[in-house]
Amino acid sequence: MKVLQWLTICVLLVPLSLRAAGPSLPLESANNDLQDLDSLKRGAELFADKCLACHSIKYMRYNRIAADLGWSNEEVVEVMSYGQDRAVDDVMTRMPEGVAMNVFGTKMPDLSLMARLKGTDYIYSFLRGYEYDPETESWDNRLLKGTVMPHVLESMERHSTEESYAQAARDISNFLEYAGEPAKLQRWDLGWKVMLFLLLLIIVTYLLKKEYWRDIKH
Ligand code: HEC
Repeated sequence: MKVLQWLTICVLLVPLSLRAAGPSLPLESANNDLQDLDSLKRGAELFADKCLACHSIKYMRYNRIAADLGWSNEEVVEVMSYGQDRAVDDVMTRMPEGVAMNVFGTKMPDLSLMARLKGTDYIYSFLRGYEYDPETESWDNRLLKGTVMPHVLESMERHSTEESYAQAARDISNFLEYAGEPAKLQRWDLGWKVMLFLLLLIIVTYLLKKEYWRDIKH
């Protein structure tokens, strides 16, 4: 009976694990590094420049970004909102919802949790997934066929080297991964401290053991 129950559970879990495997379209690896603050800063700047016109990251505030990335409150507001917001404000697009609906026929997805929802590699590949179709004379995206999002990095792609274009997409993806889970930065920090503490503890314990056993003949 037990075996049968286990078998049933396994069979029921198979479709779940298949679904977890996600879309079958091949994704490029973003190879981003959350510890690279320069990359995160460049990503924040590019996000503000190229994405914020349409997308919010409503769960982030400017002053949180400043504290995490090493900017002052004045700097973050200057760099990201061109001095139009306050540091305590959420990072909101200025595009009214009605306009998005009229122009694009859809609500603008908020990008706060996009990296968690679809993965950092997905964002990287999506940004790099635009292909020009000479027949329709328009851009389409291999990961989201028929998407209404324009190829916003088109001129950047045209005017920069393959390497620097890939780096820009990587920086933006890196920033959006950070935005999806800002605590990840601190967790890393804490991780190192815990490891160091454990190492010191092992050394101290070892020395103590030596000290205790020194006079005991064994
Ligand atoms: C001109 C407006 C506009 C700009 C600028 C823009 N987007 Fe979008 N974006 C959209 C629209 C509209 C959609 C919804 C697309 C759809 O449903 O076809 C979208 C969807 C997305 C999605 C979700 C894709 C999916 O699979 O559902 C991601 C990720 C995204 N945008 C990232 C970005 C990033 C990163 C930038 C900046 C480099 C950016 N967008 C700039 C309009 C824009």
